[in-house]
Amino acid sequence: MSNQNGLKRYTGSERLNHWLIALLFVLAGLSGLAMFHPSMFFLSGLFGGGSLTRIVHPFIGSAMFVLFLIISLRFWHHNVLNKNDIQWLKQIGDVMANHEERLPEVGRYNGGQKAAFWVMVVSMIALVVTGVMFWRPYFVDYFSVDVRRIAAVVHAVAAWGLILTIIVHVYAAIWVKGTIGGMRTGMVSRAWARKHHPGWFKEETGQK
Ligand code: HEM
Repeated sequence: MSNQNGLKRYTGSERLNHWLIALLFVLAGLSGLAMFHPSMFFLSGLFGGGSLTRIVHPFIGSAMFVLFLIISLRFWHHNVLNKNDIQWLKQIGDVMANHEERLPEVGRYNGGQKAAFWVMVVSMIALVVTGVMFWRPYFVDYFSVDVRRIAAVVHAVAAWGLILTIIVHVYAAIWVKGTIGGMRTGMVSRAWARKHHPGWFKEETGQK
């Protein structure tokens, strides 16, 4: 949908879906970090102490996974990488230097956003699969000690991968003015769309 004020980028339910994931990500991250290293154990105070942190973390993570599954089923088709996206990623130097005019045409999402989407998918799957393996007392009997040890390491690596990706995701959302407004209100300005996502702008408006 487009009108004189701007273009519709997200529906209400997509926004709710996204912001619930963001909230659960913060809670899962804080409770996970509290258990990751003694230097961050003080964070367990936010969840009512060590035992409660340990109990709630897998439930928060599971809820986040289910909501992420829903958003990824809704958005995966917008994130299929094409030739332009690969070229965009190769020209990341021009992206950083603000030389948008040298970049190939960007559609609904740019190569960086699409790559971040797939890193999120891979890390979320890795987190849920490995997390279940050492979730006491529910599933722990199904896996040997060795398997659970490997699962714990993969879980930590996937969590760091996701945290770093989300830091970049949030930084980019702040850096490109008008992007957060899209996820907050559902609308983006026509100028924002023309400048940052010209291919999507053309699709939405039929204008060249
Ligand atoms: C914590 C603060 C977060 C902020 C400020 C934020 C901000 C945003 C914004 C502004 C967009 C719209 C981008 C656009 O329209 O071009 C977006 C899209 C999206 N965000 Fe977030 N986000 C956050 C956390 C997360 C988390 C934790 C996840 C998943 C684990 C996530 C997954 C997504 C996905 C899948 C999209 C759609 C983009 C795509 O399909 O490629 N976000 N986010």
